[in-house]
Amino acid sequence: MLKTNVIAGTSSFDAGAQATVILLEQGQAIESVDAQNIDQSLKGIKLLLAQDKFEGKVGQLAAFPFVKDEQVNYIMVAGLGKVGKDGNRDIEKYRRTLGSIIKLCQKHKIASVALLAPNSSQYPGDLAYLIQQTVITARMASYAFDAYRTDVDRKVFKNIELRLVVAQESLEQAQKAVVYGVAVSDGVNAARHWIDLPPSALWPESFANEAREIAKSGGLKITVFDEKQAEEMGMGGLVGVSRGSDRDCQLVVMEYHYSDDAQTLAFVGKGITFDSGGLSLKPPSSMETMKEDMSGAAAVFASMQALATLKPEVNVICIAPLSENLPSGKATKPGDILKFYNGKTAEVLNTDAEGRLVLADALSYVIKQYKPDAVIDLATLTGACAYALGPFYSALLSQHESFSDSVKQAGSRSGDHVWALPLDDDYSQAIKSDVADIKNIGNRKILAGTITAAHFLKNFVGDTPWVHLDIAGTAFDVPGRSYYRNGATGAGVRLLVDLAMNWGKS
Ligand code: BES
Ligand code: MG
Ligand code: ZN
Repeated sequence: MLKTNVIAGTSSFDAGAQATVILLEQGQAIESVDAQNIDQSLKGIKLLLAQDKFEGKVGQLAAFPFVKDEQVNYIMVAGLGKVGKDGNRDIEKYRRTLGSIIKLCQKHKIASVALLAPNSSQYPGDLAYLIQQTVITARMASYAFDAYRTDVDRKVFKNIELRLVVAQESLEQAQKAVVYGVAVSDGVNAARHWIDLPPSALWPESFANEAREIAKSGGLKITVFDEKQAEEMGMGGLVGVSRGSDRDCQLVVMEYHYSDDAQTLAFVGKGITFDSGGLSLKPPSSMETMKEDMSGAAAVFASMQALATLKPEVNVICIAPLSENLPSGKATKPGDILKFYNGKTAEVLNTDAEGRLVLADALSYVIKQYKPDAVIDLATLTGACAYALGPFYSALLSQHESFSDSVKQAGSRSGDHVWALPLDDDYSQAIKSDVADIKNIGNRKILAGTITAAHFLKNFVGDTPWVHLDIAGTAFDVPGRSYYRNGATGAGVRLLVDLAMNWGKS
């Protein structure tokens, strides 16, 4: 994965890298940036830019090769787009510019690339934040899932070193920010890797072993319950969903302990390592990407990995029910009634609405056992969510305003964007059942599938402040963001880390 080094200097040329990046705002003249250095390396760059019709639009990127010491070097000019009316710059545009730069380095197999840290006073947040975002985004852009590609020409070039140039007096602060960025991006990319693994290469037990590895290297406490234990504890949802698979389900509980006096956050993640729909079998095309259905669990595990390094001042419990949803002669059938850890019952009318069933047990367990101050769950829960918001926002559902606000802030700071849908009580009638307490699909008159799914979960959280994030649209195959690729995005990891690191701070 991409390495990052901080170098003291005033120009990206000070880093002596193979590629030197010049960030240009729309309409900004290149000579206003670093005329002397640029001209020394590449006379006539202005002419070349003019020929390219390079105006500094966001996403515009040009690489000019030149030979130095018998090696091909590059000047990369990257457009940042228009400056906002108030003079402020958009951090998301910057992320995308960075993503394109790293992708171009991969393409040309560039071993080192230098970037002068932008002026943080023009961006939201301080220099540390800007450097963190730079490192996180560059390293996200460097991720590729290509282990199964046997054609070496199709392997992505990964040996890139990013040299970040900062003023001498900011060196120490920048180095700390790099450590932060590395921890977060390692988490994001770990989540992506688990999600991208084929569904037969990652199953509940092997995934639980991955969690054990994280706990071990991070010094976190971990408990893993197997199917028999889940059954004994009365987790009818988790066990009911797992019945069709020959593989044992697992319930993973990981704990980061800061102090007995601190507040406790709970992170809950849906971990269906493959969702066929069960007996309510999905059509083939809908099943193609259903290895992604453990993205919530991947996000919560990965955030714990990062937090073990970053040590937030809050306790964090992470819990993930891991299971496979498959049809078989033993599988749960439409019409079956399951009883959950908190004693409630649900009629299963569609075995493809399995996420809420496994989460019901996980939520009630973590709330009863740990009495957290706030609970957030992440789940690829409903196809309806992808229809409502597309791939660019995760849906946020909650009835707790102040906790929601914290999550929204963590989302916009971190780049894991969330958008709220309503969770009014009006919708709860959709899941009333004649034969059990509730049913696992909403009735046809209400339609709002993402909201009714959240209402189902609401039955298992009591009064604890709770936010549900539906990441069905954002976890996988998100187009148009240069720092992603096809496949997993690691949605939610950056948000969770930000939430924990800033807990109680605003
Ligand atoms: N895993 C799916 C949701 C999903 C769909 C995630 C598309 C990512 C992309 C979930 O388990 C599911 O199948 N939900 C059903 C619920 C329905 C039966 C009420 C759905 O959305 O169709
Ligand atoms: Mg089983
Ligand atoms: Zn499903």
